[in-house]
Amino acid sequence: MDAKKRLVVGVSGASGAALAVGLLRALGSLPDWEAHLVVSRSGARTLLHETGFPEAGVTALAATAYDREDIGAAIASGTFRTEGMVIVPCSMKTAAGVACGYSDNLLLRAADVTLKERRKLVVVARETPLSRIHLRNLSILAEVGAVIMPPMLTYYTHPCTVADMTGHMVGKILNEFGIEYSGLKRWNGQATVPDGEEAA
Ligand SMILES: Cc1cc2nc3c(=O)[nH]c(=O)nc-3n(C[C@H](O)[C@H](O)[C@H](O)COP(=O)(O)O)c2cc1C
Repeated sequence: MDAKKRLVVGVSGASGAALAVGLLRALGSLPDWEAHLVVSRSGARTLLHETGFPEAGVTALAATAYDREDIGAAIASGTFRTEGMVIVPCSMKTAAGVACGYSDNLLLRAADVTLKERRKLVVVARETPLSRIHLRNLSILAEVGAVIMPPMLTYYTHPCTVADMTGHMVGKILNEFGIEYSGLKRWNGQATVPDGEEAA
């Protein structure tokens, strides 16, 4: 019997596709976990635009990848056991769909299932600035138990590269599922001062 823990990863068409690639790579390196991936149509577009990865390249990073139109796929049912789902990055359109229970593609259906089964849903919501419509939808998601985790810039870790920022965010997502990740720099109460070019 396969005892691996399953994490559903939904990639929608917001900016931040590198976060999805980073998360899939991290999950792929863990012996006890497997990623079950669904990419929206716009997600495929932003992945290519922002990371150079064609959809097939990204699906190869997951244990299982599903056709976004296959509303009968395993992750569309609550009887398929998972540890939860991450939507990374999450567009405001997908946030609206999940907040309203409007499940017209597999990514939205899988998120709806995650909520109804009272499993953890992490929403890496990305847009700026946020309208009141966006805020209302994210508020609804928070009320029903989703973790709203916008990919905010982190400065206290003194990142040198975008990859450092991405790694930190991937670590914060994995932390929600009890997974330790080297890219996450934990605060230990010891403030340090950046030197040289890092200083701003
Ligand atoms: C390059 C690019 C960047 C985008 N960035 C964002 C974003 O950060 N947040 C957002 O809500 N939508 C963004 N969009 C728009 C979404 O892709 C669009 O609303 C799409 O319909 C979302 O569909 P989906 O949620 O099914 O993936 C972006 C689109 C493109 C082409």
